[in-house]
Amino acid sequence: TAIPVVCVDGPTASGKGTLAAVLAEKLGYHFLDSGSLYRITGLAATRAGIALDVANEQAIVSLLRSLPIHFEGSHIWLANEDVSEAIRTEDAGMNASKVSAFPAVRAALIDLQRGFRKLPGLVADGRDMGTVIFPDAPLKVYLTASAACRAERRYKQLISKGIPTTIDSLRADLEARDARDSSRTVAPLKPAEDAQLLDNSDLTVESSVETVLAWWQGKQ
Ligand code: C5P
Repeated sequence: TAIPVVCVDGPTASGKGTLAAVLAEKLGYHFLDSGSLYRITGLAATRAGIALDVANEQAIVSLLRSLPIHFEGSHIWLANEDVSEAIRTEDAGMNASKVSAFPAVRAALIDLQRGFRKLPGLVADGRDMGTVIFPDAPLKVYLTASAACRAERRYKQLISKGIPTTIDSLRADLEARDARDSSRTVAPLKPAEDAQLLDNSDLTVESSVETVLAWWQGKQ
């Protein structure tokens, strides 16, 4: 029988990362933060002085294929540099969104992502986990929250880290990112046909986790 996968897809700052990480821990499964792969690609290309322009799609793919990426628990390394923090900035998110619209970049990351599917199972967080990467996953969650809610959560996160920002600029950024992610031709952000929708605008992390765990138990 196939190795189980729980997909958690949804727009920027919908709480996917948090939900997916808690689920992985509770289920004792592996965890794939697929956005980190696009973030690292954007970071490496920017550092190499390659403009994130479709004219440079092949150059970005060549660079990506040469990147020594390693995962260690929740940390991500690029050669001998821990880039876990560097890839989390708003700029890194926007750059990830730009490179992720290039079909060749997406294609180059497919096998790497599928390689995370190991026993006893996987929780995968992203935009196209259920639609493209793991279409046979028994549970696909599409997590949303209102834009106002997502901007406010991101604002609190950044302020608590001492990073100055405003709710309005965050909301504008996340709406721009969602618009790009939803309108691209390859693997656009959208719920899989068999996805279960969860709007967590008014839910705590605990109750979102409980809801999804109940869905998962229902599949066993
Ligand atoms: O989830 P995260 O914010 O880290 O993702 C950063 C960007 O990477 C997203 O805005 C999206 O453009 C892209 N992405 C994607 N497909 C995924 C995960 C992320 O296109 N599976």
